Amino acid sequence: MSELDELLAQALSAVAQSADEQALESLRVHYLGRKGLFTAHLKKLGALPAEQRPAAGKSVNLAKQRLHDAINSRREALQKQSLEARLRAERIDVSLPGRRRATGGLHPVTITIERITAIFALAGYEVAEGPEIEDEYHNFEALNIPANHPARAMHDTFYVEPGTVLRTHTSPVQVRVMEQSEPPFRMICPGRVYRCDSDLTHTPMFHQVEGLLVDDSVTMAAMKGTIVSFLRNFFEQEVKVRFRPSYFPFTEPSAEVDMSCVSCGGVGCRICSGTGWLEVMGCGMVHPRVLEMSGVDPGRYTGFAFGLGVERLAMLRYRVGDLRMFFANDARFLEQFQ
Ligand code: PHE
Repeated sequence: MSELDELLAQALSAVAQSADEQALESLRVHYLGRKGLFTAHLKKLGALPAEQRPAAGKSVNLAKQRLHDAINSRREALQKQSLEARLRAERIDVSLPGRRRATGGLHPVTITIERITAIFALAGYEVAEGPEIEDEYHNFEALNIPANHPARAMHDTFYVEPGTVLRTHTSPVQVRVMEQSEPPFRMICPGRVYRCDSDLTHTPMFHQVEGLLVDDSVTMAAMKGTIVSFLRNFFEQEVKVRFRPSYFPFTEPSAEVDMSCVSCGGVGCRICSGTGWLEVMGCGMVHPRVLEMSGVDPGRYTGFAFGLGVERLAMLRYRVGDLRMFFANDARFLEQFQ
């Protein structure tokens, strides 16, 4: 009996010290398996006198049962331990800021064109497009700028080949629209234009938005109203607007549009060179000769046109001090418009 007690004590302490489930399982086989030490003990019972056998058998079975229970609870404890260790190791720190995927944004020039387009869309203007590589006829002749006309000198034209230019303004799209269908016309044309000019305030490529409205009895008052309400919408301010007589070969009368300075409100500052006014676009009533050359009857129809510089408006709206920033592809600048 003392041998049995000793065996049990030894087994229980081994179980208590077992480090993992695998070690525990070999202990179980060692003590309780078919060839285990306790089984060997039971076999010895046969050698005992008959009257002692039942009591001895009971003791062996009790000892086996105790060991069995001890193994089971040790297993549970080990399983719990290893689960906790795994959870600790695999823990996800939900407080860590996520890794964001960097998203691109629209270029400020594109944002500005979309804004202009959206405002004119409210007034029923459609978007028209024309080629950037343009023939001299559409860029000049059809706009009443014949060869040797002094106005050609204002344009610093890039020639692709004789007779073909990079368009110097979006006005040729007026001509293309009028050639292609019948009035009424109510369109705007955003696009790139090119001039051989490069300094602080000029880049060889920039963007314009052209506007054209041709219909029965279109007046200069309609043009003024359209431009004033566009500028107030675009800048979201009650800007003052003035129309200054000017000259374009394709409009008559022609005007330059000035707007009260968005920076100083008209008092005078660096942005408006102290004048209180900013020049923002050219406009005028479409010249009858231009209508006629494009197949529109100037006896029946009148119209107005305007042309504005997109970068100029974007600079004023976003307070950008240097035109060249738009084309430097500096992500730190561009990111601010996302
Ligand atoms: N095309 C002119 C320019 O580039 C602008 C303009 C357009 C003026 C339409 C009058 C009418 O300067």
